Amino acid sequence: MIPLLLAALLCVPARALTCHGDSGQPVDWFVVYKLPALRGSGEAAQRGLQYKYLDESSGGWQDGRGLIDSPEGAVGRSLQPLYRSNTSQLAFLLYNDQRPQASKAQDSSKRGHTKGVLLLDRDGGFWLVHSVPDFPPLASSAAYSWPHSACTYGQTLLCVSFPFAQFAKIGKQLTYTYPQVYDYHLKGIFAQEFPDLENVIKGHHVSQEPWNSSVTLTSQAGAVFQSFAKFSKFGDDLYSGWLAAALGTNLQVQFWHKTVGVLPSNCSDTWQVLNVNQIAFPGPGGPSFNSTEDHSKWCVSPKGPWTCVGDMNRNQGEEQRGGGTLCAQLPALWKAFQPLVKNYQPCNGMARKPSRDYKI
Ligand SMILES: *[C@@H]1O[C@H](CO)[C@@H](O)[C@H](O)[C@H]1NC(C)=O
Ligand SMILES: *[C@@H]1O[C@H](CO)[C@@H](O)[C@H](O)[C@H]1NC(C)=O
Ligand SMILES: *[C@@H]1O[C@H](CO)[C@@H](O)[C@H](O)[C@H]1NC(C)=O
Ligand SMILES: *[C@@H]1O[C@H](CO)[C@@H](O)[C@H](O)[C@H]1NC(C)=O
Repeated sequence: MIPLLLAALLCVPARALTCHGDSGQPVDWFVVYKLPALRGSGEAAQRGLQYKYLDESSGGWQDGRGLIDSPEGAVGRSLQPLYRSNTSQLAFLLYNDQRPQASKAQDSSKRGHTKGVLLLDRDGGFWLVHSVPDFPPLASSAAYSWPHSACTYGQTLLCVSFPFAQFAKIGKQLTYTYPQVYDYHLKGIFAQEFPDLENVIKGHHVSQEPWNSSVTLTSQAGAVFQSFAKFSKFGDDLYSGWLAAALGTNLQVQFWHKTVGVLPSNCSDTWQVLNVNQIAFPGPGGPSFNSTEDHSKWCVSPKGPWTCVGDMNRNQGEEQRGGGTLCAQLPALWKAFQPLVKNYQPCNGMARKPSRDYKI
């Protein structure tokens, strides 16, 4: 009986690690939009712990199941393997230009302006791209939590499940974004298979032109994503200096406006890059807020089909920093994000070349 049971257990095909949705189910991808602390009713709203949830089959934005600091929600549940007692069979990298207090990483001003998590087993795992400062907690802290510093403002998190082999390409992208890695585990087969991730952990970065790199990544369920990554020497704005032309579309860009040297909307090239300044979720009572309350970083093409979620703002300083964004042409993603743009800064009185696409 016991040997049989054991045999049965051993025969279960290995299941790759994945993102988990808000109901605890494995999902190919999800987006969590943490809402700013709103003046609306309810203690959770005031503390800034509420969020909206989106995946392929959620039928648009849904209210988060609980609060963002719950280990049962999509973000907490997905990161759970990190906080188990034994992570020896996993590989992970936690990187953030604003690292949690407990970690002992170096000064990050030369590193990329980039935040994320790679977490995988031998069959695959996920890449979580996000805007959250001081997050996530170190694996040694043994529990998921949400930092106080990330409660007041809006934040975005995009989680995508990828097969094992895709992490080589993700590793390449990280040699461009030059992240500050503040916690990691990369041993044995993981170190062998992903030399670029080892290089990134050691603080190495791309050392010759080109200073930007774009790769196609295919998720576990076959969804196609396009990753854009730039190194500091790229020396230009991600959106107006590359992304709009690369995607061949105008862009409406949501980013954090409370920084110095914010770049204005830019219509001087073929494609317009427009700064979003107000966001509104659909429906009566759907929360609405200003970009000054929203630390999240995403963009959409006004007429589709592109949506990107990443970690770069539009300001002069970040022209000289690494960072990037993860884009896709998924209808479920675009249909959810495009209507969020309530207002944007037009290019008043700026000269612009004839454009193929004026009407937005
Ligand atoms: C973790 O698991 C591995 C393999 O299952 C085992 O060899 C190792 O001793 C475990 N480590 C701890 C600290 O329990
Ligand atoms: C528009 O963007 C391009 C590329 O980033 C930049 O070279 C140009 O100076 C910008 N124009 C304005 C008016 O900001
Ligand atoms: C880098 O960005 C430039 C635009 O600034 C673009 O023309 C070029 O194709 C990009 N290079 C790569 C390798 O994607
Ligand atoms: C958002 O910004 C607009 C224009 O700058 C301002 O009139 C409005 O009061 C702001 N709303 C909030 C909720 O801060």
